[in-house]
Amino acid sequence: MRDTPPVKPVEWVDGTLRILDQRQLPRAERYLSARTPEDVAEAIRVMAVRGAPLLGIAAAYGMALAARESNARDHGALIGDLERARQVLKGSRPTAANIGWAVDRVMAAAHRVTVDGTNGRAEPDAIRDAIAAEAGCIALEDEASCEAIGRLGSELLPEQGNVLTHCNTGALATGGLGTAQGVIVSAHRAGKRIHVWVDETRPVLQGARLTAWELQRHKVPMTLVPDSAAGTLMAKGRVDAVVVGADRIAENGDVANKLGTYQLAVLAAHHGVPFYVAAPFSTIDLDTPNGEAMVIEERDPREVTDPLGMPLAPEGTSAFNPAFDVTPANLITALVTDRGVIRPPFGPALKRLARRSSGRVQDSDIPTEVPA
Ligand code: MRU
Repeated sequence: MRDTPPVKPVEWVDGTLRILDQRQLPRAERYLSARTPEDVAEAIRVMAVRGAPLLGIAAAYGMALAARESNARDHGALIGDLERARQVLKGSRPTAANIGWAVDRVMAAAHRVTVDGTNGRAEPDAIRDAIAAEAGCIALEDEASCEAIGRLGSELLPEQGNVLTHCNTGALATGGLGTAQGVIVSAHRAGKRIHVWVDETRPVLQGARLTAWELQRHKVPMTLVPDSAAGTLMAKGRVDAVVVGADRIAENGDVANKLGTYQLAVLAAHHGVPFYVAAPFSTIDLDTPNGEAMVIEERDPREVTDPLGMPLAPEGTSAFNPAFDVTPANLITALVTDRGVIRPPFGPALKRLARRSSGRVQDSDIPTEVPA
């Protein structure tokens, strides 16, 4: 039996981007309408839209909005407007690899129009169409990637057991079923009896607000826990696997993900619990050699002192609020990607898989395990 219909966190509707405002969830389902790339960048900054793969999709549509709003009548002027939009979108949140990946891919599609010809149409119009089509492709490909990740990752989970996850990695964070959450939901749909420990994920509470909401809709048994419960759960043998997503994966397999992921990986290694990272290939950044070279976003300290806008700490308290941390590759049991499951050492296998076409994923293309 299938569960409730999937959510559409972003949707291209009549030339605007309709964005489900995730800050309001689970209390209310409200939508924003983005008409310009600046609107999209702002929705990304305030985390109305979030989650690495979905940020890539939103940014790609942000480029489509830039193309639509531009009055440029020639190729050079339109490319100039698109270049400005690319910088605005890239600057919105620095850690998620998918934003840069998506806007660069859309720019490449725009440039291809001039090389390949326009079938007699005005060049700017042909570019506008090509960009909207490319954004749509990025969204569709992510849906297929989630399916592949879910299928491959679910095989790694036990027939029955407890899985711990952090942050939100479901349909609200991607173009499909999700990454880490896709693995969990696919295992559940395959009949595995999985119970999920959902980290609440301070300070923005993506676990408590979003993952709990999504898993309820999928009817996956789950229990919400404070982030600091992971140690005691693992010590008591009550976690069989940890599955998380990723915001950026470096060439050596180091992973940036939601703050708190690193300490989970350390705990998992200490207790001999497998630690899986699930992400599409679009999150892998082979130009970044390792975690030290990654830019980690620091957010407004008020997210910590005034969580969800509620003043908690004494007036004037200073707070440090990195949005992500880096988990070194040596703490990761396997990377579950849409192109295969990769075991350490990650570097050589990542490079080999990167050489394969980045076109739509075919089932027959995907090896269950990629040899190092
Ligand atoms: O700050 P967020 O909510 O955008 O952080 C999201 C995460 O860290 C996710 O784990 C990651 O983007 C993977 S989403 C499929």
